[in-house]
Amino acid sequence: MRTLIAGGTVVTATDTVRADVLVVGEQVAAVGSDFGPVDRTVPATGRYVIPGGVDVHTHMGLVTPTGVSCDDFATGTEAAACGGTTTIVDYAGHEYGEPLAAGLERWMAQAEGRAHVDYGFHMMLREVDDRVLKEMAGLVADGVTSFKLFMAYPGIYMVDDRSLFRAMTRSADLGALIVMHAENGGPIDVLVERFVAAGRTSPVEHAHSRPAGLEGEATARAITLAELAGVPVHIAHLSSADALAAVRAGRDRGATVHAETCPQYLLLSEDDLRRPGVDGAKYVCSPPLRPAGHQEELWRGLRLGDLEVVATDHCPFTVAQKAAADQFPGIPNGLPGVEERVTLLHEGVLRGELGLNRWVEVTATAPARLFGLYPRKGTIAPGSDADLVVFAPSHERTLSAATHHSAVDYSCYEGLRVHGLPEVVMQRGHVLVEGGRFCGTPGAGRYLPRQPGPAA
Ligand code: URP
Ligand code: ZN
Repeated sequence: MRTLIAGGTVVTATDTVRADVLVVGEQVAAVGSDFGPVDRTVPATGRYVIPGGVDVHTHMGLVTPTGVSCDDFATGTEAAACGGTTTIVDYAGHEYGEPLAAGLERWMAQAEGRAHVDYGFHMMLREVDDRVLKEMAGLVADGVTSFKLFMAYPGIYMVDDRSLFRAMTRSADLGALIVMHAENGGPIDVLVERFVAAGRTSPVEHAHSRPAGLEGEATARAITLAELAGVPVHIAHLSSADALAAVRAGRDRGATVHAETCPQYLLLSEDDLRRPGVDGAKYVCSPPLRPAGHQEELWRGLRLGDLEVVATDHCPFTVAQKAAADQFPGIPNGLPGVEERVTLLHEGVLRGELGLNRWVEVTATAPARLFGLYPRKGTIAPGSDADLVVFAPSHERTLSAATHHSAVDYSCYEGLRVHGLPEVVMQRGHVLVEGGRFCGTPGAGRYLPRQPGPAA
C-alpha cells in the first residue's frame, strides 16, 4: 500500500519544509515530491505534518492505595491517539517480593489486545535487594531499559539512598537509564502528619506539605548519586524552579542528567487546588502544582534545553474517586493529560514560548531518542515508522470532558479555547483518527522493546 500525505508542511525537530510524505506499508519511504501513483492520498494543505507524539510517562490502570487509575490501555490509548500521540511508555510495577518479570508480564497482559498505539514499559522498583539487582538484567534483555526509583511515598515506593545507589550502579553496568521521582518523602510525611493534626486538610495543603525545596533537594541528591554511580539519570515530572536549578547545576559540572516536565506544571498552578469542593481535589498530583511563578522558569527551561521532554504523567481518577476522601492524604494522586499534551504545547508555540521545531522535539523526538526508540519513532524520515499526525493549526476548539476520549469524567482544562486539532493520526501507516474522529482497532498497538544506552 502506497499512501501520500500531500501538500502539508512537514515539521520535524530540525526542519520545516513544504513537502509530501510517501508511506509504503508501515514505514515512511520518502519526503519530497513527484512520487508517482499511490493507492491513497491524505490531503494536508494548510496543515502541519508532524511525527506521532511520544509520551514517555503514563500510568494506565495503575493500582494505588487510593484507587486504580481509570484509563486502561484501551481508553487511555484511544485518548492518546486522538491527541496525536502514537507511542506511550507506561510504568510497569511489581509487588514486594514479586519477580520483576512477573510484574512486567502483568502489564504486558493488560496492554496486549487492548492498546491502540505502540507501547513500551519502564519498571518501577519498590525494593532493591540482591534478587532485584540480578533480575534487572532480564528486564533490559526484554527491552525494559529504564528503571524508576522513588525518593518519596514511604511504605509504598520510597527506597533509601543505599538502595538508590545500588540500583544506579547496577543500571550503569547494564546501560540502563534511571528515572527518578525526586521529592524528599521523609520530611513530606512529617509535614503531612502535622498538617492533618492541625486540621489543615484541604487539597491545597497537599501542595504545602510537599514544598518545592524538597523537590530541589531530592533532585540535587539524585544527580550527585547518579554521577558517583556513573549512570545517566532522568528527572521525571519536574515541577519547580528549585528542581530545575538543581538540573542546571548538575549539567554545569558535567553530570549526565535529563529532565522532563508536564503540561500541568507549565499551565496550571497551586491556585487550582484552591477551587471549592471536589474541584480542588481534581488537581492533586505529586509533585504538586506550584505557585504560578514557577511556570515562567519552566517555559524558559524548555526553550533553553534544560528541560528536554514534555510527558504527561497521565494518571487519571474519576471525580468520585477524587471526592472519596475528605482529607488531602486520602485523595488519589494524579491527573489526566495524554489527550491534550500535543495541542497544549502547540498553544505554547502560539504564545511564543517555543518554536515549531522545538514543539516537535519536546513532544516526540527527544523522548524517543532518550528512551531508545529513535529513529523508528519521533521523526519523519525514510525508514521511520509511519506514525504521522496531520495537525490543523488554526482549528479552534474548546477542551472539555464532554468531547474527550479518556474514561475520566473531568478535564483539568475544561473550557479552555485552543488552536489545533490532530485531524488525521496514523500509526505505522494505519489510520487511527480521521477528521478528528477515532477509528482504531483495539490491539493494533505493538510492544516496543527498547535499546539500552542512548541516554548516556
Ligand atoms: O501524582 C502522580 N503523579 N501520580 C502518579 C504516580 C507518580 O508519582 O508518578
Ligand atoms: Zn508518574
